[in-house]
Amino acid sequence: MAQCNVVILISGSGSNLQALIDQSKTAEYTIASVISNNADAYGLQRATRAGIPTLVIDHRDFADRKEFDLALQEAIDAINPNLLVLAGFMRILGADFVSHFSGRILNIHPSLLPKFQGTRTHERALEAGEKEHGASVHFVTEDLDGGPVIAQERIKVRADDTADSLQRRVLQKEHLLYPKVVKWFAGGRLAMRDGQAWLDNNPLPATGVPAS
Ligand code: GAR
Repeated sequence: MAQCNVVILISGSGSNLQALIDQSKTAEYTIASVISNNADAYGLQRATRAGIPTLVIDHRDFADRKEFDLALQEAIDAINPNLLVLAGFMRILGADFVSHFSGRILNIHPSLLPKFQGTRTHERALEAGEKEHGASVHFVTEDLDGGPVIAQERIKVRADDTADSLQRRVLQKEHLLYPKVVKWFAGGRLAMRDGQAWLDNNPLPATGVPAS
């Protein structure tokens, strides 16, 4: 792949977006556009500051999920990216959308998948008495937070941790993890085949790249 064109979808602060912007200055991908479903997302300001075109497609302007997904799909198709990166994008994408971009959508999730799919991951990790917690990057499939895991970053849970302290430490790890994975994809090293994630032509285990 010559230069990989990336579209990034956000809903909020966009600190992961920032980590990807920072890396893009020296990596083989270009962030072609940042799209938010929320006009107030701080990440839009980060993108504008970096000179990246932005677009707001507010889900509340559409009758249902199908219509929203279709508008989003058309906007993305007009940009024709190689990769779609969900970075704190808080809308569920329907099966048609996901299959349209199959193998080209990454998501970051604040838990060690398959543990704690869905929301309130830090609270639930604490409630479950987990000793380790973390973040995962995975390919998006129709199975919500269930697509093949590419890589994870782990932290130790401390006795005095709260959901907030976990969230902060996990987020710091996310900022290392996501750029690494996007770089792999942009370099043509990463793919989804037969429902599995492959790196350098090797199928990855269920929890992604083994810890080095
Ligand atoms: C991140 O922690 C990301 O893992 C999470 O939202 C946060 C966004 O932060 N994503 C999800 O929960 C998706 N289900 P950011 O806007 O600062 O990058």
